[in-house]
Amino acid sequence: MNKSEVIETVRSLHDMSKAINSTLDIETVVDEILSKTAALMNSEEVIILLLESDKTVLTVYSYLCPGDEEPKVKSFDRIGSFDHCLVHKGTVISLREIVPGDDYHRYVKKMPQLAEMVFAPLEIKGDTYGLIGVLGGRKKFSGIKLEIFCSLGSQAAIAIENANLYKSLKGTFLHTAEALAEAINSRDPYTGGHTRRVMEYCGMIASGLEMDEEEQEALRLAAILHDIGKIGIDDAILRKSEALSGEEEQVMRKHPEVGAKILSHVDEMQSVVPGVLCHHERFDGLGYPAGLKGEEIPLHARIIAIADTFDAITTNRPYKAAEDRVSALDELVKNRETQFDPSLIELFCKVIINEKREARQGQPACKVKGGSRWIT
Ligand SMILES: [Fe+2]
Ligand SMILES: [Fe+2]
Repeated sequence: MNKSEVIETVRSLHDMSKAINSTLDIETVVDEILSKTAALMNSEEVIILLLESDKTVLTVYSYLCPGDEEPKVKSFDRIGSFDHCLVHKGTVISLREIVPGDDYHRYVKKMPQLAEMVFAPLEIKGDTYGLIGVLGGRKKFSGIKLEIFCSLGSQAAIAIENANLYKSLKGTFLHTAEALAEAINSRDPYTGGHTRRVMEYCGMIASGLEMDEEEQEALRLAAILHDIGKIGIDDAILRKSEALSGEEEQVMRKHPEVGAKILSHVDEMQSVVPGVLCHHERFDGLGYPAGLKGEEIPLHARIIAIADTFDAITTNRPYKAAEDRVSALDELVKNRETQFDPSLIELFCKVIINEKREARQGQPACKVKGGSRWIT
């Protein structure tokens, strides 16, 4: 390795370290590891394999190759222990050392390039939990390059582990938020599972809008927490099966503001607040609390309003029985432009209809119904 190659290698390693440590999004981290490893090792194909918990199966976690082809082998069964092959730091191994006998030939027959790959351990504190492989046999790379490849494996392992921990932490947080919201909602015996369903309907609209992951996450949280402000509402009002009095209605109408106020105390929840605060605004400006109109209403709130009402119509309530999904869509369509954003209603109809494969493409036939009240 000459001087300029050393400089280039150090620069590439630094770039890689910066890239994979600048995000905790697991997919971005893995993409960066694959592309930077390919550049650093000057190799067209890079593969990441993870050990299953019983340590006898290696599964392909991610793969980079020209033309973005799927790997022909998805997992390697009945692998032998390869720890003894990794005695020294900076040791790479080949597939032959990982998979014994006939199995090796079977895999190489399916995917010949495997025979030309070298693998470095994904290792944290001496514990190997997978391998990263690059195309190009031992002879292609200098000793220094292989050592660098191995230390890159350790770095990649830590980045993947961190991103996975962060992902599971976020999952735990979402489940905790959902449990909290359900605990509040469960005071109203008719709304069990409401938050989860509203979140799922919102997710379907978000996918149709091709929202990025960060925004989808804020929407999911807003959907889960949209009624959190009901925490302060008396059971006598919340559980009442008859129509609410004017005064009671006013109390009930406070829940978006109460919810938004609770969440505004948490810095990380700022992107969630608008969806919670405005989920009872109406497209025609006749909603509450602010009487916002059209696109003045934040997008998340316009989405939640649809999901919330759809769930209210399709579940049993004290004042009316659940209706089927087609009738519920009819009702939403009837109220587009007055209560709801018409373009989002159109999208929602499509995703619900596609999901159930219940109807032909296009909007459902419209049945006009009398005015109804849904506590959402
Ligand atoms: Fe609701
Ligand atoms: Fe609400």
